[in-house]
Amino acid sequence: MAQDITNTRVLITGAGVRIGRQIAIAFAQAGARVVVHYNRSEEAAQELLGVLNDITPGHSAVHADLTNPEERQTLIPRLVADGLRINCLINNASVYRRCPLTQVISERLRQDYEINFVAPFLLMRDFAVYCEEGSIINILDQRVANVDPSAGPYGLAKKSLRDATEAAAVQWAPRVRVNAVAPGLVLPPPGASPNGMARLVKRVPMAEPSSPEEIADACLFLARARTITGQILYVDGGLHLVGVPLPEREEADYGPR
Ligand SMILES: NC(=O)c1ccc[n+]([C@@H]2O[C@H](COP(=O)([O-])OP(=O)(O)OC[C@H]3O[C@@H](n4cnc5c(N)ncnc54)[C@H](OP(=O)(O)O)[C@@H]3O)[C@@H](O)[C@H]2O)c1
Repeated sequence: MAQDITNTRVLITGAGVRIGRQIAIAFAQAGARVVVHYNRSEEAAQELLGVLNDITPGHSAVHADLTNPEERQTLIPRLVADGLRINCLINNASVYRRCPLTQVISERLRQDYEINFVAPFLLMRDFAVYCEEGSIINILDQRVANVDPSAGPYGLAKKSLRDATEAAAVQWAPRVRVNAVAPGLVLPPPGASPNGMARLVKRVPMAEPSSPEEIADACLFLARARTITGQILYVDGGLHLVGVPLPEREEADYGPR
């Protein structure tokens, strides 16, 4: 039998806007209570909180810069001390930057790992330490299935998070399930040209982008699945099966020029 989501209180990182916002709405509509985490998008997070509380009461919002060690390490203990019984964590917050490997400098490597691997990993650990039981869902990227050197440290960090998903699934079972959703093309980065997205969509076997609603549905499915752990659910129209051929990769890194 599927797990009853109405007993779920889910912390969603980076939930104020875009995909995280849709995940928050889907969980609220399914009867879960949501803790909307935000960093810069305070106004959007408060607006979302209003939307969620119109669906069902009992949601809340919390601020933390996940690259700030103090704010990061107090996030989950603070929620638990406030009496919130968090039993689901969705690591959605991320920063996507493309960077050819020869142009990676140590500061950038650190920054991209900090938000895309270190922060979600430490939140996973804190969830396992401070929360009694439940499930973790890491939002990855279909790139974890193949090689895209121009995705730079972002791609490498997401691969590390995939590995951490599998390791934690084994170590923390049966108390905590750990799964991942790997989106393909969903929303272009703010300011990106629509032509770029249209060109990339041509590579997608299903010939269309995936919607934020589908990403949210996949998260709901994993949150409800009683015995699924260590799973990576690709929501990408099959893109991970074909990847992007090297000559078509933007900013492909062919070495020193
Ligand atoms: N968009 C796509 O097509 C796509 C494709 C593949 C994978 N994904 C994955 O899906 C997830 C959501 O994608 P998205 O495009 O909706 O994400 P996004 O807009 O790039 O980022 C989501 C949120 O991350 C939060 N964040 C960034 N730096 C932070 C920091 N230092 N501290 C705390 N929060 C921070 C931001 O919150 P604030 O705004 O509050 O600062 C931001 O709104 C990501 O994990 C992404 O890698 C997305």
